[in-house]
Amino acid sequence: MLASKRILLIIGGGIAAYKSLELIRRLMERGAAVIPVLTRAGAEFVTPLSVSALAGEKVYRDLFDLTDEAEMGHIQLSRSADLVVVAPATADLMAKMAGGHADDLASTLLMATDTPVLIAPAMNVRMWDHPATQRNHQQLRADGISMVGPNSGDMACGEHGPGRMSEPLEIVAAIEAALSDGPLKGKRVLVTSGPTHEPIDPVRYIANRSSGGQGTAVARALAALGADVVFVTGPADIPPPEGVTVHKVETALQMDQAVSSALPVDAGVFAAAVADWRVNRASDQKLKKSKDGVPALEFVQNPDILAKVSQMGEGRPDLVVGFAAETQDVVAHATAKRARKGCDWIVANDVSPETGIMGGAENAVVLITEDGAEPWPRMSKDAVATRLAERIAGALAG
Ligand code: CTP
Repeated sequence: MLASKRILLIIGGGIAAYKSLELIRRLMERGAAVIPVLTRAGAEFVTPLSVSALAGEKVYRDLFDLTDEAEMGHIQLSRSADLVVVAPATADLMAKMAGGHADDLASTLLMATDTPVLIAPAMNVRMWDHPATQRNHQQLRADGISMVGPNSGDMACGEHGPGRMSEPLEIVAAIEAALSDGPLKGKRVLVTSGPTHEPIDPVRYIANRSSGGQGTAVARALAALGADVVFVTGPADIPPPEGVTVHKVETALQMDQAVSSALPVDAGVFAAAVADWRVNRASDQKLKKSKDGVPALEFVQNPDILAKVSQMGEGRPDLVVGFAAETQDVVAHATAKRARKGCDWIVANDVSPETGIMGGAENAVVLITEDGAEPWPRMSKDAVATRLAERIAGALAG
């Protein structure tokens, strides 16, 4: 699907620029042509020679390079591509884009282009969390810029948190989604998935049997229809799908925070099995056996993430889909849950052990909407996901 596509790749100045060399290779393997632009700071991290050797193209670097202006002006260069990709997109580049600056070749191309733009942010976690970057992030989203990442994890600077640039194959998948003609092209969808782990002490936690299988399948199906998917996952048994922005969390509180920072989205699908309670004041030291008997655990309520998003008023996603795991009176309980939480749809399933659904490959669901209950035949979790993604595409289009 990338064959004969032209990608204008702007490489910003961050340590993640080394991953952009790999990105060029992966794009070219798929038949794309890469026209590289290296910012001055980018050239501090990767050499123009490596970039041009891998891309098999001249590297564009300077706005006032008259030869380039004679061969191909910056306006034409900015419009000659099917997609403009900025990777790594540094805090500075994001600020320039959000503010409409045009003081070097990269920022001028971004101002002059009329082709879609995808950015892969990469920066130190504090820079990412800074209110200025978060403002710019929201502005760029409002301006219709697509984004992949940043991911959470250990960073080259030694800190931990969101700010890592997405891996080259994730960026390739986001590029494919941005160039796809799928019905969810241009739509941003949030998916929560997996269990949560609620700590008792540093070595013990309370968990549940969710494998993350259904949420992962839904995220993959949405991405396949061209959606820009933000995937917030607890500690699941299976790896997240490729081509989505992944936020890994452990606890319900962390999931709640990751969901808040992913907003705004066009639709949210809440497939996670979130623990309803957490241990109040989890011990920061391992609890030891004692002759005084067993420890008493006190529980407190976790935020209901689905209900919060469903009832948030301004900024609410156009479509909010919850899941209901029930063991009896599935339709009645799920219908009541839809009303109580305020979501648009509930995908209800019977997780009684004899159904083999929790942790299994198949699912038998009932879709509850304002029109009533619609039972779907038992099918694989992938097939449920595809059907749900198609329904979501239909609802967002309508
Ligand atoms: N959910 C959530 N945050 C929570 C609990 C649940 O976002 N703290 C979401 C789940 O992701 C799912 C839906 O709410 O989409 C239903 O979760 P479920 O556990 O089945 O329902 P409960 O709210 O726990 O209701 P009950 O106790 O009646 O089963």
